[in-house]
Amino acid sequence: MKQALLMVSFGTSYPETLEKNIAALEREAAAAFPGWTVRRAFTSGMILRKLARRDGTAPDDVPAALTRLAEEGYEAVAVQPTHILNGDEYDKLCAQAAPFAPRFARFAVGAPLLTTLEDYRATADALMASLPAPAEGEALVFMGHGTGHAANPAYCQLEYLLHDLGWKGAFFGTVEGYPTLDEVLRRLQERRPVERVTLHPFMLVAGDHASNDMAGEEPDSWKSRLEGAGYSVSCVLKGLGEYPALRAIFLAHARAAMETMFTD
Ligand code: CO
Repeated sequence: MKQALLMVSFGTSYPETLEKNIAALEREAAAAFPGWTVRRAFTSGMILRKLARRDGTAPDDVPAALTRLAEEGYEAVAVQPTHILNGDEYDKLCAQAAPFAPRFARFAVGAPLLTTLEDYRATADALMASLPAPAEGEALVFMGHGTGHAANPAYCQLEYLLHDLGWKGAFFGTVEGYPTLDEVLRRLQERRPVERVTLHPFMLVAGDHASNDMAGEEPDSWKSRLEGAGYSVSCVLKGLGEYPALRAIFLAHARAAMETMFTD
């Protein structure tokens, strides 16, 4: 049986972070699942158009990737998102993938990073294993993307869990959802005496949001605003895909999707 794993990312136009995060995850999947062809698709039309304009070529979107696999005679196809939330991009992926199910003998779509409670525990454990614990006087602030979708509270649940596990110096903010940096600034004042802040993107890649909104030199970047509030700030420009423990969760989700295809 011809088998393929389609790894679906939002996408990025930053080649270096593409390589270190998305490509690293795809390479690891290819090594973990011998006998499965690993393919790439992006869900962001904005990124795909930008890449096509700039490079003259771009990865497939989901319908194009699945059409290609069907035409090449693949019979078992697992689709694994590298998305963080069960949000808009994942809904779009599911809606685009559903019509293709009848074209394959076996077909399954895996879950984003933060789906079940076990996923939150695994993600918290992976962060705690991958990063130094916040020291006395230090806070770790994670920049999530955030969304108007009902999945947005995922960031608060993960922060709450990290606090329960002992990382009371870890805080989440978002670019486009709740909490914003305003709430993070207030919590830094309320919760503990903090002098130093380490900023991390809580996104698969360290692309435009991490480079500009988080770590940029403009006065409204998180770095500038935290410095303006008196904190000494350092930025870690690494996507979640650069941490083996986080990649392992995505691969576990891919494996679970493959297993559902073969248990009936
Ligand atoms: Co964005």
